[in-house]
Amino acid sequence: MGLFDKALDASVLFSFDRSGFERHARRFVEADLRVSMQGKVVLVTGANSGLGFSTARALAALGATVHLLCRDEARGQAAVERIKAELPSADVHLSRLDVSRLSDVRRFVEGFRGSVDVLVNNAGVLPDTLTRTEEGHEVTFATNVLGPYALTEALLPRLVLSKGRVVTVTSGGMFTQKLDLTTLQGEVKRFDGVVAYAQTKRAEVILSEQWAVKHPDVTFSTMHPGWADTPAVRSSLPRFYRFTKGILRTPEQGADTIVWLAVTPRLTGKSGLFWFDRAPVSPHLVGWTKETEQQREALARLVEKAATR
Ligand SMILES: NC(=O)c1ccc[n+]([C@@H]2O[C@H](COP(=O)([O-])OP(=O)(O)OC[C@H]3O[C@@H](n4cnc5c(N)ncnc54)[C@H](OP(=O)(O)O)[C@@H]3O)[C@@H](O)[C@H]2O)c1
Repeated sequence: MGLFDKALDASVLFSFDRSGFERHARRFVEADLRVSMQGKVVLVTGANSGLGFSTARALAALGATVHLLCRDEARGQAAVERIKAELPSADVHLSRLDVSRLSDVRRFVEGFRGSVDVLVNNAGVLPDTLTRTEEGHEVTFATNVLGPYALTEALLPRLVLSKGRVVTVTSGGMFTQKLDLTTLQGEVKRFDGVVAYAQTKRAEVILSEQWAVKHPDVTFSTMHPGWADTPAVRSSLPRFYRFTKGILRTPEQGADTIVWLAVTPRLTGKSGLFWFDRAPVSPHLVGWTKETEQQREALARLVEKAATR
């Protein structure tokens, strides 16, 4: 990489934006996405809009059987119909799943028959007020960490059998945070949605690294999409959106690395990594955000306990 590219990447703005994607895409290998996914079963959470929708559509276009796991039946059905209208032979299905509710995760997994080759943990939220689910968990934590953890754990036997992949969508927002279990669970005097969100994304990366060590038959990846123009960015970060709307990535560009991680043959021996624009990157931009081994273990214990309660 040249000095100019390094400087642009260090600016963050000209890396996470559309120009960053276009610059990074010059090193993409086009043939990487010319993979047949015929016979492969893919599950995508939060697939009715934004990056999840783009991911589901792209994987359906490659021939995969794609299950869109959506919390709202009507929005989910509309997404399935949109894909079928564009790709009449697409094998796409809707399943209702509110990933923030452990009881719903259990209901979904018990009712879902058959194998799983790829799980994409994409659903995510960034609420600006502290709310708890009826199961008592802060909503950001429940949606972004606990539900995906429970879903992944419950599907692991099938993913091991298929030597499958788990791709988890995190966020560059986590670069500003060091793991803090108190904040992660919403046990704070003043709730800051952006901090809570970044904490959950940091936690997702650590959990994925831990799974990669424990389950060598499955390939675990986390990625961040840069900044893409999706409903979440418009509604959760209106000021950020006003400032950046002209330079945001398209949802397809934001989803590119998710799709690539789901299909590329280049992942052999590369589990537990954090990716950006089809390249592995460090999950830390600065040293002070690095957590200790004890903090990592405490996170694993906390999430396991909360998920099995
Ligand atoms: N766009 C970006 O620039 C950006 C940057 C960094 C990270 N991300 C991450 O990318 C992922 C996708 O976000 P997006 O930008 O594509 O936003 P989006 O268009 O709002 O998509 C979020 C999806 O998650 C679903 N969802 C939320 N809570 C759910 C729940 N409890 N159960 C099931 N589904 C749920 C939403 O469903 P409803 O339609 O029913 O609300 C929606 O389908 C998120 O994890 C986000 O943190 C995005």
